[in-house]
Amino acid sequence: MDEKKTGLKDAYALETPEDSRKLYAGWAGTYDDEFVADMDYQLPFHTADAFVAAGGNGHVLDVGAGTGLVAERLVQRGISPIDATDISPEMLDIAGGKKLYRKLFVSDVTQPMNAPTNTYKGIISAGTFTVGHVGPEAIDNLLQIAASGALFAIAINAAHYQAAGFDAKLAGLSGKIEGLILVPVAIYGDGADGAHAADKGLIAVFRKV
Ligand SMILES: C[S@@+](CC[C@H](N)C(=O)[O-])C[C@H]1O[C@@H](n2cnc3c(N)ncnc32)[C@H](O)[C@@H]1O
Repeated sequence: MDEKKTGLKDAYALETPEDSRKLYAGWAGTYDDEFVADMDYQLPFHTADAFVAAGGNGHVLDVGAGTGLVAERLVQRGISPIDATDISPEMLDIAGGKKLYRKLFVSDVTQPMNAPTNTYKGIISAGTFTVGHVGPEAIDNLLQIAASGALFAIAINAAHYQAAGFDAKLAGLSGKIEGLILVPVAIYGDGADGAHAADKGLIAVFRKV
C-alpha cells in the first residue's frame, strides 16, 4: 500500500493506548476506502465467520470495532444484537453511521471494562489484538463481562501471538475457558500488496466456563 497514507506502518509502530487514540482519530475517515480497499482486508469477515461456525449468537460485543466491518458480516449472518466498543470515538462514529450496532461505547480494553459483568453471550474482535495495539492481558477484562458459556472469537496477529505470549496466557486460563481452537487465516486477500500482504492471523475460539 502507499506508505504516505495513514496505514499499517503507522499502526504497527504504536506503543500505548493513547497512541491508538491519536492514530485512529486521523485514520477513521479514510480507513474503509483506503486501507480496507487497498489491502483487501479480510480478517473481520474471517473472524465473524469463525464465530458463526462455532455456534455463536447474540448478544455480542465487538471489541475494537473500528468502522464496523465485523458487524457488517455478523448482520449478514443473522446475528443480533451487537454492541461495539473501541478506544477511538472517531472510529465508532463511522461504525454508528452504518446502523448495525444496538449500542456503541468508548473503552480501553487494556483496563477493566465499564460494562455490566457476566453479560455478553459472545465476544468478538478483529484487528485489535495486533502489533502495537492490545496484548493478552485484555482477555481477563473481557472474561469479566462475558456470561458463563459465552463464545469468544478473538483474532490475533500471528507474529504478535508469538511475541506477546498469547500461548502462555491462554494455557493459564485453563479452568476459566474451554474448547480452545486456533483457526489460522490470511489477514489480507489476493488484492493486497506491500510488506504485510502475507501476514497471518490466528482466531482463538473458546467458551468461558
Ligand atoms: C485495525 S483496527 C480494527 C478495526 C475493526 N475491528 C476491523 O477489523 O476493521 C484496530 C481497532 O482497535 C482499536 N483499539 C486500539 N487499541 C485499543 C484499546 N486499547 N482498547 C479498545 N480499542 C482499541 C482502534 O481504535 C481500532 O479501531
